[in-house]
Formats: sequence, C-alpha cells, structure tokens
Amino acid sequence: MAECIAIESTSMSARAFFEVEKRPQNLESSCLKLQEFSQLQKEEGRKLVVITSGGTTVPLEHRAVRFIDNFSTGSRGAASAEYFLEAGYAVIFLHRKEALLPFYRHFNCSQFLEHLAVNDERSHVSVKDDVVPKLLSVLLRYQDVSNQKRFLMLEFTTVTDYLFLLRAAAEAVHVIGRNAMLYLASAVSDFYIPSTELPEHKIQSSGKPLTVTLQAVPKMFGLLVQDWAPDAFIVSFKLETNKELLLQKSEGALDKYQHNVVVGNVLETRKRQVIIVTSGEVEGVAISKEELHQGVEIELKLVDNLAKKHSRYCRETKE
Ligand code: PMT
Repeated sequence: MAECIAIESTSMSARAFFEVEKRPQNLESSCLKLQEFSQLQKEEGRKLVVITSGGTTVPLEHRAVRFIDNFSTGSRGAASAEYFLEAGYAVIFLHRKEALLPFYRHFNCSQFLEHLAVNDERSHVSVKDDVVPKLLSVLLRYQDVSNQKRFLMLEFTTVTDYLFLLRAAAEAVHVIGRNAMLYLASAVSDFYIPSTELPEHKIQSSGKPLTVTLQAVPKMFGLLVQDWAPDAFIVSFKLETNKELLLQKSEGALDKYQHNVVVGNVLETRKRQVIIVTSGEVEGVAISKEELHQGVEIELKLVDNLAKKHSRYCRETKE
C-alpha cells in the first residue's frame, strides 16, 4: 500500500501538550512510586540517575492497530543502568515496554526453555548446570540492588506516556537536588498525531494511498532543564546517521538548552564509539577491537566518565 506522511510544522506549546493529551492510566501510582523511591534515596544519601531507554511510538488510531515507531533496542539504557548501579547509584529506569532490560538482557528469551531440566519423576524443574554460573552472577547482582531498594523500573509505550512519565520522574528527583542525574537515552518521536485528530477505530484500507498528517511534538527539553529538574545534572543523547553532522548537532543542542552534557552517536558505530560534548570540551570514548572481543561494553566507559563529571558538578556547585 502506498502511503504518504505529511509533517506540519505548527505545534502547540510544551505546557499545553499536558493539558490536551490524555495522561497514562497508571500515572498516579507511578508518581507515588517515583516520590517514595526518591525520598528513600535522599534519606540514604545516595546519588540517583533517571535513565530513559527504548523508542516511543505514535499511534495512528485511538484503538491503535497501527503506529509509527522510533528505533532503539534499549541496549544503551539497559547496560548503562547496570553500570550506574555498580557505581553505587540508585536507578529509576523508564523504559519502552518490551525493550531490553537491565539484568534480563543477558538471557535470550527464545532460549528460555532450553536452559531448564525436568527430573525423572517429572515433578521438579531446575536450571541446567552450564547456565548456572552466568545466572548466579546476574541474579545475585539483581537481588542485591533490589534488596537495597536501589532500582525502580517503570514502562511506557507511546510518546505521550513517555513525556508524562519523564515529567513525573524529573519532578520527583527534585528532592535529591544536585545528586540527581537525568540520562536521556530514549529515541523520542519528533512527530505525532494529537489525540483530538486521531480516528477512533482502525483506519480502513480502501486500496488507495493513505495520507497521514503529523504535527511536531513540542520540544520538552527547555521545560525539563528550566522547570522540572533545574538542579539535576542533565545528559541528553544525539543520534545521527550522517557522521558529518554529529558534532555540530550535539554542540547545537548543548548551546540551545544549556544543560550539562550531550552524548553524540552514529547509528552504525554506537556500540564502539561516542563523543561526549560539554561546554568547551569534546571527548571521544571508544572501545578497541580487542575490548569488543573480550565483551567490554562502551557503556562501562561512558558511565565512568559521566559519574566523574557528576561528582565534580556536585562538588563545584556546593562550594
Ligand atoms: O537503544 P539502542 O539500540 O542501544 O540505541 C541507543 C540510541 C542510539 C537510541 C541512543 O544512544 C540515542 O542516541 N538516543 C537519542 C536518540 C535521539 O535521536 O534523540 P533526539 O535527537 O530525538 O532527541 C534529543 C533529545 O531531545 C533527547 O534527549 C530527548 O529527550 C529530547 N526531546 C526529544 C523530543 C521531544 N519532543 N522533546 C525532547 O525534549
């Protein structure tokens, strides 16, 4: 079926978006969890990072059968969450439903049943011996952070769900002040159909081309930096497919919003190299072929670098 997608540039203001769009059903309970979790971390004197991970969707119908998706596997966010936890942070992990999750990402769901064994009496299930070392190591790390109440996961699907949840999380971590970091690795839709313009039911196929008009999603970044989390250390990501544009776009984002860091990456090489752009400095972070073979993940170096910058930010702004 031939399709035509038109994009209109007129857009409502960021604030008006929250008045007009429908809030996710479970928003109140998510807010409560976010506030309780942030308060606990404050009492424990911990640093706290909010990680967003995975792509957002744009439904084409209210009872959505069809939707437009943004590319992101959730690998960056899920790996980073584990390294932040290892570094002693508490982690709020806002993730796209069904994207990769911290800890779970080490196991392939499609092989789940292959890892299990049944006893001769067919009354008991156990994990096969060859899986035990890896499972044990991941499980122990997961149980430690869960028992310490240092890890909270909340999910989103649509861009609207994401923006409501991001605002709630940013406002909740305000109690942590400068000890809070926002690490925005999600791939967020730039265009959507406002709910007032969505058809209720599935769009019928008539054999003719379909024309869909998309509006620009209001940029929330200004509000985030100025109003929702003015004290937090804010790291945004910039994804490009053309490497020639990466530096200029990353510096442009930093210049426009005046937050702390932009991590720039190119789609094909994102697992091997990134640039870290701060005011007046550009650093490259990369992993060598040898490190790649050894299973070293770039997020290990990225998180280490950002955690140090965050510590400096906390110290400098205290003085
Ligand atoms: O998940 P993986 O497969 O591992 O891939 C990781 C990744 C490539 C998705 C990740 O490293 C990455 O680059 N994420 C950012 C993707 C991106 O293109 O961002 P953006 O240019 O759409 O947005 C830039 C910033 O603007 C974001 O921090 C976003 O929160 C913000 N934004 C976006 C839309 C919007 N309406 N308001 C916003 O404030």
